[in-house]
Amino acid sequence: MSDRIANPQLRDKVMTAEEAVQFVNHGDKVGTSGFTGAGYPKAMPAAIAEKAKAAHEKGQDFSIDMYTGASTAPECDGVLAEAGALRYRMPYQSDPTMRNKINAGEMKFQDIHLSHSGMMVEEGFFGDVDLAIVEAVRITEEGNIVPSSSVGNSVEFLNAAKKIIIEVNEWQSEELEGMHDIWTVPPLPNRVPIPITKCGDRIGKTYIEIDPEKVVAVVKTDAPDRNAPFKAPDEISEQIAGNFLDFLEHEVKAGRLAYDGYVMQSGVGNVPNAVMSGLMESKFESIQAYTEVIQDGMVDLIDAGKMTVASATSFSLSPEYADKMNTEASRYRESIILRPQSISNHPEVIRRTGLIASNGMIEADIYGNANSTHINGSRLMNALGGSGDFTRNAYISTFISPSVAKDGAISAIVPFASHIDHNEHDAMVFITEYGVADLRGLAPRDRPAKMISIAHPSYRPLLEEYVELASKCKYQATPHDLRHAFDFHIRMEETGTMMKGE
Ligand code: COA
Repeated sequence: MSDRIANPQLRDKVMTAEEAVQFVNHGDKVGTSGFTGAGYPKAMPAAIAEKAKAAHEKGQDFSIDMYTGASTAPECDGVLAEAGALRYRMPYQSDPTMRNKINAGEMKFQDIHLSHSGMMVEEGFFGDVDLAIVEAVRITEEGNIVPSSSVGNSVEFLNAAKKIIIEVNEWQSEELEGMHDIWTVPPLPNRVPIPITKCGDRIGKTYIEIDPEKVVAVVKTDAPDRNAPFKAPDEISEQIAGNFLDFLEHEVKAGRLAYDGYVMQSGVGNVPNAVMSGLMESKFESIQAYTEVIQDGMVDLIDAGKMTVASATSFSLSPEYADKMNTEASRYRESIILRPQSISNHPEVIRRTGLIASNGMIEADIYGNANSTHINGSRLMNALGGSGDFTRNAYISTFISPSVAKDGAISAIVPFASHIDHNEHDAMVFITEYGVADLRGLAPRDRPAKMISIAHPSYRPLLEEYVELASKCKYQATPHDLRHAFDFHIRMEETGTMMKGE
């Protein structure tokens, strides 16, 4: 382990998390590494949670504001939320305990585009950052940090923070060194174009430069990332994936896509994984990914020679694939690049690559406004993540989702979305198990028929009923009857289903 901390000055700072927690104070603003269950600190969060609990038992206040790359894990977001140790959190979460606390109004959460979040810290939108806690594979002789399985916002946090705690995690493979590409946009007013023209371009360093004088503690850990296993694709996911692949074929026939020109962005989950299985059997070759997270399916595509390069900011692998990555990282370094999320999700590069975005959703309305985050307008599920960065700037932006949730009690296609993350100007194509609603080139009044065609058949009459009501209203640019626009959601609140009773 000692050679993982090659800098003698920082080797002298090694201590336990319980000792290092002395540097965390009530009211601190803390930025941590971690993105989608990868590369988050493994020891400090529990120590902070214990400090908070001890303070609360004595009747004292103790809470911090915490910023990350994206979601972390139960042993980070979960323990801190459970202990009541968080006042404010941004920019993404997916933890059940944290979700309940946010929905109960017991802690504050701000949902921020992932590409904006680091920049906002850098430009001082949140005030001074007191502490950065960042996981590393190793510390170099010069005292720089080789990040682990994600990069996220670590560069911005390390630059902005007054103090730094580094967790050196021996579980993470040292062979990850060389996979990272650390380059940051110079702050205003000195911004320059990002010199990435192809997904595989490497433009920066393989480590993060820090000021070693700011390091107050180095904590050794040996613990795995969260790495949840994927569910095997079910029939509905396979149908949706099939419709997505048919859509890609349709674009090839229309001359808008080449079999060797598919640049992929993919959200995580069952359906994206089924899409990747489908791509294995497809005519698409030399696929490139400019995306946020590397998933199992992408690793399979690389192994099969179907994908040439995958650029992201983090891994999101099953335990089996995480083990594979840990033992074979030196091989995957050839085709996988991990960048800061300010670059992996940067609008400039997304637009340049001409990628096709595909993300999940909670619901979409008949005009093509999509809700990724809130159930019935008020209840947070996860957060927006990078879906806005990619949807707004993609060559083609798609949303893929089952037509119903909760055994048919909830329709994914509704008259008016109860919360809008991606508006009708950004979202282009919606895909369910019933087909593809391609809204490109369609004025609002031409859209409901397309959207209703991909709704579950049991909800189509109710949606048509609403369109008929709206067609009688005074203004017909984007017709809505506001007295009935949320009938689906109101019925769900009152009866537990969007379906009308007999
Ligand atoms: N109302 C209530 N619950 C709904 C719902 C709706 N309209 N739509 C989906 N759900 C529930 C499902 O029932 C399921 O619940 P369960 O876990 O209790 O079974 C859960 O949401 C997940 O839905 P699922 O159909 O399995 O899809 P998913 O795993 O693809 O998740 C989102 C869908 C929208 C929650 C997910 O894609 C997300 O968080 N998106 C925002 C972030 C994002 O897009 N990131 C990628 C950017 S790179």
